[in-house]
Amino acid sequence: MSPRFTPEQIDAWRRDGGVLVEAFFTPEEVAAVQADFGRVFGDAAGADQPLVKTADGQGGAFHAAQFRNLDSIPFDGCHALNLIGLHPALIAFARAALGVEEVYLYQCQAWAKYTGAADYDQPFHCDYLNHTLVAPSEDTTRNTCTVMCYFSDVTEGHGPMHYVPRPLSEPIAPPEATIGGPPEVAELHRRLAPHARSTAGPAGSIFPYSIDLYHRGTNLTAPGGVRYAVTACFKRAGDDSIAFTAWPFHHMKPWGQLFARATADQLACLGVPRPGDPFWTETTLARAQRRYPDWDLAPYRAALLASA
Ligand SMILES: [Fe+2]
Repeated sequence: MSPRFTPEQIDAWRRDGGVLVEAFFTPEEVAAVQADFGRVFGDAAGADQPLVKTADGQGGAFHAAQFRNLDSIPFDGCHALNLIGLHPALIAFARAALGVEEVYLYQCQAWAKYTGAADYDQPFHCDYLNHTLVAPSEDTTRNTCTVMCYFSDVTEGHGPMHYVPRPLSEPIAPPEATIGGPPEVAELHRRLAPHARSTAGPAGSIFPYSIDLYHRGTNLTAPGGVRYAVTACFKRAGDDSIAFTAWPFHHMKPWGQLFARATADQLACLGVPRPGDPFWTETTLARAQRRYPDWDLAPYRAALLASA
């Protein structure tokens, strides 16, 4: 178990569907990732006034503007941001939460929100619709561990995700109620809202949650407010029922920079065979080195030699 989280927090994730873990990332890690957010999105500040499109109590709506400053890793020159979703402690949390040794990172995005750039208020919903073509399992370890990571201080004025712990939402509605039309969604929101908890926390906090957890984005209202977040979604390795990002589809991104700095354990979470895997031969090592000249293949080469 990593010292960055406790067995009780893993139990809470399984029971409640989500748990806030403060100070998961160190101030140094936060500062490095913050600087990379500035490189990717510029150092824009939020507006003085929030944008409000939805009347209070309506539960908000989904707007394309909410997802405008959202992009997938890797980013050119952003070495801290590129690997933060593969931090060894995050991998350890996902392994413990999902109860398996091998996990796969199937989504990792940087997301900047600004006061006034959108009305970020959403109705309560579950995320499974764009993570699987089927439905969430009753066994939460067969679902996913989606981790919302905050890299700026998130107060109630900075758009913290709100959620309803599973034991409180279960008597109200099952996850599939998220599929309803606007009247049903509004009614669902009205019934869940009294049980909402906030994920507000200082920079470096994480909120791992499950795809069957009712949650919603909230608006940024703080004058000049900015929220920097990274989503890191893990599943059991080999579970083809869950997906989001097909990494090779984004092959034009600067993967060589990430490969040059990642460990074999981190790369395994992206589907790279581990040292010692029969995939690795002299030929595949040479081909991979040609593609990523700065990748240190020594562990892979050593394992191949040891097996010869
Ligand atoms: Fe969501």
